[in-house]
Amino acid sequence: MERLMGGGVLQLLLASAGVLLLYRILVRLRPGAPLKDAVVVITGASSGLGKECARVFHAAGVRLVLCGRDAARLEKVVQELTASSTGSQKTYTPSTVIFDLADTDTVDRAAEEILKCYGQVDVLINNAGISYRGNILDTHISVHRDVMETNYFGPIALTQALLPSMIRRRSGHIVVISSVQGKIAIPYRSSYAASKHATQAYFDCLRAEIDRHGIAVTVISPGYIRTNLSGQRCHRGWL
Ligand SMILES: NC(=O)c1ccc[n+]([C@@H]2O[C@H](COP(=O)([O-])OP(=O)(O)OC[C@H]3O[C@@H](n4cnc5c(N)ncnc54)[C@H](OP(=O)(O)O)[C@@H]3O)[C@@H](O)[C@H]2O)c1
Repeated sequence: MERLMGGGVLQLLLASAGVLLLYRILVRLRPGAPLKDAVVVITGASSGLGKECARVFHAAGVRLVLCGRDAARLEKVVQELTASSTGSQKTYTPSTVIFDLADTDTVDRAAEEILKCYGQVDVLINNAGISYRGNILDTHISVHRDVMETNYFGPIALTQALLPSMIRRRSGHIVVISSVQGKIAIPYRSSYAASKHATQAYFDCLRAEIDRHGIAVTVISPGYIRTNLSGQRCHRGWL
């Protein structure tokens, strides 16, 4: 993770353990379908949890499509991953697709670009997200809209654009990185908690609707991980 502060080693170990857990869940949930050579799409892969997921999946021999808004930051991740390849496991140079999740009009085009990389998507990890801290009385409605665009509308638009290709193949796994705040709302996190509650509800509905097509849906709800997102100063001491 970038910009680790003092005591970051423990947080890095905890975050890596979380990503390894995610990796193991995916392996367990896809019996008979080893992740090696699978096509895994990760949004928000330029930093934090997404970058760490990219590192673990790359080392496992996965064909990665890394997504983000900043081409230069993503290219740096690709270079780091390529340089870290040891040779003991066949690895693939990750592809990148640049788009802004908050601009849902561009998501269909981005989904087409993602599908062009390898012709299919086995696992979609909806990880990108933004945070917000502030009391409700001082929070303009536009802030709630901005957080919802990135954390809720973007991921659901991308999921819906990629779903038909998964349904055609009767195979796929959709993962979303929500938050413990998608289950419990706490003061000063109204926009963020609301966006993650909406995310939890949407993907719970989706799981029930598409199970019959052979597609799995997993919502991950992490607690605190020290990253750029969580490193912003807390408001009145709330995380
Ligand atoms: N850190 C925690 O304590 C914690 C706890 C629970 C859940 N989570 C969740 O974990 C996920 C990852 O967060 P993180 O902590 O790893 O934060 P991070 O280091 O800030 O990473 C966020 C990523 O999202 C991307 N992103 C942000 N807005 C975007 C947009 N409009 N379009 C496309 N990409 C966008 C960023 O890419 P660019 O800026 O390069 O485009 C960046 O790669 C988030 O969904 C967050 O809610 C985090």
